[in-house]
Amino acid sequence: MALLIKTDIDRGNAWTEALNAHYPELKTYTWPYDGDPAKIDYALVWQPPKGELKRYPNLRAIFSVGAGIDHLASDPELPPNVPVVRMVEPGLTAGMTQYVVLSVLNHHRFMLDYAAQRRAKVWEEIPQIAAEARQVGMLGLGVLGRDALEKLRAFDFKLAGWSRSPKSITGVTCFHGPAGLDEFLAGTDILVCLLPLTAETADLLNRDLFAKLPAGAAVINVGRGGQLVEEDLIEALDSGQLSGATLDVFRQEPLPEDHPFWEHPRVFMTPHIASMTIPSSAVRAVVANIQRLEAGEALQHVVDLKRGY
Ligand code: NAP
Ligand code: GLV
Repeated sequence: MALLIKTDIDRGNAWTEALNAHYPELKTYTWPYDGDPAKIDYALVWQPPKGELKRYPNLRAIFSVGAGIDHLASDPELPPNVPVVRMVEPGLTAGMTQYVVLSVLNHHRFMLDYAAQRRAKVWEEIPQIAAEARQVGMLGLGVLGRDALEKLRAFDFKLAGWSRSPKSITGVTCFHGPAGLDEFLAGTDILVCLLPLTAETADLLNRDLFAKLPAGAAVINVGRGGQLVEEDLIEALDSGQLSGATLDVFRQEPLPEDHPFWEHPRVFMTPHIASMTIPSSAVRAVVANIQRLEAGEALQHVVDLKRGY
């Protein structure tokens, strides 16, 4: 039984150590692999080169190192009958919830304004708005969106969420589908995007959507860069329709040096680190799933490639 790891070098080594410690029966190889491709049963990957995974004729499952699987779904030569498993594990969820709570509070407490005041040496109070007077709206009510909303409840924000299928979540006003989007947006002061990148969600965060938010709303994008029309965001920030944005994901990563986001005073940015899979914690999810398959049970968290997530 053998597993091929393709991620960056540092995390690849950490995965090898974690897998060897938790599952010594499983042989691990790191990419590039020049052995017999027929010997590889499993692949654990982040952004493998397109066409790479079709080289292994006996693959039983492809594990994504991250929650998102757009890096796999975008491979036109992805082997069609091999299940693709997304990463669902408590460490990744906790990391994202920390980032979302931090970012919502940053906007709620006017931290972009205070940073600007500090640069200008201005000592001035901005009237505070009560949390219960603000709605946090979550695009995506999956594993990550729901956990973040649950933790945000402690701050007394009004909470709303939008998903593809109908949901019922205590304390969260739920909307779904294209028909539910406008009403969801109309009440949302701080919008968080935790959607997977699919044909339906690409370019969703655009000029029309920003215009449907209350004036002065803030946007936090932790989904994928392909969901945001970047020039529309700059226009909405410059006109005041949006008061600020926190961005962790970008159409091009790393963000090019000449990109206007670097200098924009209403943008807070991080380099795609909102939540990072930590091998020592995530290894349990991968091992448990392989053991399930080896015992003849069904894999958990297999994605629907037609749906795109
Ligand atoms: P998930 O459990 O699969 O949940 C996805 C949610 O999005 C579901 O609620 C789904 O609706 C909703 N959705 C999908 N397509 C939709 C559409 N067309 N219209 C409305 N709602 C739609 O995914 P997750 O584990 O929460 O992860 C979400 C995404 O976060 C990942 O795909 C990845 O892109 C991103 N992420 C980013 C980072 C980072 O560091 N920046 C880290 C981890 C993940 P249903 O419930 O109706 O199916
Ligand atoms: C990171 O972006 C992930 O999808 O886990």
